[in-house]
Amino acid sequence: MGRRFLVALGGAVLALSLAACSGEGAGGGGDTSGDKPGDLTIGVSMPTQTSERWIADGNAVKQKLEAKGYKVDLQYAGDDIPTQSQQVDQMITQGADVLVIAAIDGTALSGQLQAAADAKIPVIAYDRLIRGSKNVDFYVSFDNYKVGVAQATGLLVGLGLQNKDGSKGTAKGPFNVELFAGSLDDNNTQYFFGGAMDTLKPFFDNGTLRVKSRQTTAEQTAILRWQQETAQKRMEDLLTSSYNDGARVDGVLSPYDGISRGIITALQNAGYGSAGKKIPVVTGQDAEIASIKLINDGVQSSTVFKDTRLLADQAVNAAEAFLQDKQPQANDTQTYNNGVKVVPAYLLPIATVYKDDIKATLIDSGYWTAEEVAAGQAKK
Ligand code: GAL
Repeated sequence: MGRRFLVALGGAVLALSLAACSGEGAGGGGDTSGDKPGDLTIGVSMPTQTSERWIADGNAVKQKLEAKGYKVDLQYAGDDIPTQSQQVDQMITQGADVLVIAAIDGTALSGQLQAAADAKIPVIAYDRLIRGSKNVDFYVSFDNYKVGVAQATGLLVGLGLQNKDGSKGTAKGPFNVELFAGSLDDNNTQYFFGGAMDTLKPFFDNGTLRVKSRQTTAEQTAILRWQQETAQKRMEDLLTSSYNDGARVDGVLSPYDGISRGIITALQNAGYGSAGKKIPVVTGQDAEIASIKLINDGVQSSTVFKDTRLLADQAVNAAEAFLQDKQPQANDTQTYNNGVKVVPAYLLPIATVYKDDIKATLIDSGYWTAEEVAAGQAKK
């Protein structure tokens, strides 16, 4: 409460001081349609560099904008909310003409967004919707509900309950599964978890799947900031509290590759994956190279690939449209209500990657090379 008030207050003060300069000096915002790209700056605010996807996202957006001649101010906030607020404040005072923001906490930037609106700076939410503000002008992302459906389907296919083509598999169960959700302050979490739970529900209802820990809500299963270490700790705790009677874990629903690797480490430390103790089916998201190697080695079962190159393209298209005083092209104007308004969005398709999809989906498309997959490391 206190922090939000302070952030809002900071935004209000900033808005006043921006109004006081009446567009002089600070530049930014307003009618930019006649300006040359070299005179225009796009502020790009990314959450963290601890996950390789955000580094790739940041680099891709920067390179694509610079290739068109724009100036780019790219900042990473180290997963720290005050740092991100401060960086966005600074982008506004330094005269950004458009903001592209992947928020750490989807509700913490209202003050900044009000200041941006007052300075007529359009705001594009990048992959994570910013909530509680009317000043979000556009959203670029993937179909996040479908990501959750794909993750749950990956779990069912991995367990043999379903085939890749959607038909019924030969496995009967019952299977013990555990569930992980993402960070609750990330708007995507509810879509991922909701899509997954809707898909798994019939299997819980008929007893094919059961959650021995009984932790089945997003609140009980969430991993703050999507941290690998937190996920490892939670999996260790689950093994101690619910599986010390000799029962085995057959599958784990994981919403993100970093979380998956934490889960896998905990399972391996408990003897899974060796001496005849089969590693459980673990899902994921983002096609991070360390997880693609694990999938290639038969350790992680699947991931959901979201092509960040295409997402960067959409962010660039939207930024350019705003700079030319046009509206970006949306393909969804219904789904993403941020609590104040429905934000027009451009949503990209997703693809599930099992071991036998790595070549066609990731290597042939140039997302990762065969060498990177073998090494489990990106070249740069
Ligand atoms: C989400 C994003 C996921 C994953 C996660 C952790 O917002 O949609 O793809 O990257 O953050 O970084």
